[in-house]
Amino acid sequence: MSRELKIGLFGFGVVGEGIYHVLQATPSLNATIKKVCIKQKDKKRNAPEELFTVNASELLEDPEINVIVELIDDAKEAFIISSRAIKNKKALVSANKKMIAENLQELLDLQDLYQTPLLYEASVCGSIPVIRNLEEYYDNDLLQGICGIVNGSTNFILSRMFDDSLSYSEALQLAQQAGFAESDPGLDVRGIDAVNKLTILLLHGYGIVSKPEDHLHIGIDRIHNLDAKYAAEKNVRIRLVAQSKKLKNGRVAAFVLPQFVSNKIQLYNVNDEYNGIVLQSSFADKQFLYGKGAGRYPTSSAVLSDISALRYDYRYEYRKLKNNSENELTDDFYLELYAAFPIRSKVDKNDFEWITEYNCRDQRQYIKGVIHYRKLLETKWVNDASVSLVLCPEGIIENEEVAFREVKEKFWKLAGVAEKKKEVVPDIVLVER
Ligand code: HSE
Repeated sequence: MSRELKIGLFGFGVVGEGIYHVLQATPSLNATIKKVCIKQKDKKRNAPEELFTVNASELLEDPEINVIVELIDDAKEAFIISSRAIKNKKALVSANKKMIAENLQELLDLQDLYQTPLLYEASVCGSIPVIRNLEEYYDNDLLQGICGIVNGSTNFILSRMFDDSLSYSEALQLAQQAGFAESDPGLDVRGIDAVNKLTILLLHGYGIVSKPEDHLHIGIDRIHNLDAKYAAEKNVRIRLVAQSKKLKNGRVAAFVLPQFVSNKIQLYNVNDEYNGIVLQSSFADKQFLYGKGAGRYPTSSAVLSDISALRYDYRYEYRKLKNNSENELTDDFYLELYAAFPIRSKVDKNDFEWITEYNCRDQRQYIKGVIHYRKLLETKWVNDASVSLVLCPEGIIENEEVAFREVKEKFWKLAGVAEKKKEVVPDIVLVER
């Protein structure tokens, strides 16, 4: 018989209320909520009044409570609660990706110091058990790449815009009504939620401890109607993709960018609030995890799974980190990128190694080409809201490929065909006019 869990729950919002109902429906779990800490006392709740308190200490100092489930919105407040819970030797379950991603090292230290488990499967991809898969199944050498739609709201918005021709604001409003979006939806649409989740995936996938701000993250808020038109013409979809790839030199590239997704890959069929994540392994090729990434019950189901795992004293072992896997991030690689911009902005074609496509339309121009990642980060236009950036389908280009192309170019030059090549990639005027 597994041990009894007495839960102190923080937050009674979309997921908090969800887990309350889910636990009532699963008595076999031997887990009960003893107290719920909320912010506003007078709000009408769908549960007995005596369950609620506004005093955090009633949960954190109660010796009978052995599990804290933290499901509040405010990441700073959540970190204070989480630290106190761990220090008081209470096992902790959290769905707060922002809190976890922003405090990875501190949370690792606390777990070590107090030997108390912290589980957060619900923080990445809602109902999909991706963290436990990365922890348990993918040994260090097995995992080559992670490529995922990890934010349900932006996927829902893109689906509604592309499939139902809703406007961006109409689609966002629907995502908010459905309870998918963050209370500050800017976190979703600017790619911040996705980069928080990527930061967590990098820890479990490669043993890399990083901060969200270490990674480029561009959201969907810069996508223009003409980009959507371009995607439709090319028979691809635009999706917000968080990805990492172990390069041939052993270093790891990681970022969040909108990406053109062709129907040859599984992410093409990930629509609405669903998430999908392709794990590329050394020997098994690709594996695809798919499921609902946001919403009351999908997220509650992951929280429930963590609560259930605590009955058996499950904890993350962070093996890749602890075994000194020596995986390191790099900014030395290339991207094939589509950059579209109004005529007044200055995207310099010289920032690109080479250009594969361009168009000078009246209102808006675009360049598709290959650019060094570090150079991209240094450009002024990478942060220009009027410039939309979308990664091409096979968007990460290894240094070797670029070097090989340079050798080929030299060969062409020697063979006297350089002039012909110039005609194929004509010069473009991209300055203000
Ligand atoms: N706002 C998040 C999303 C909620 O849309 O994916 C789930 O993490």
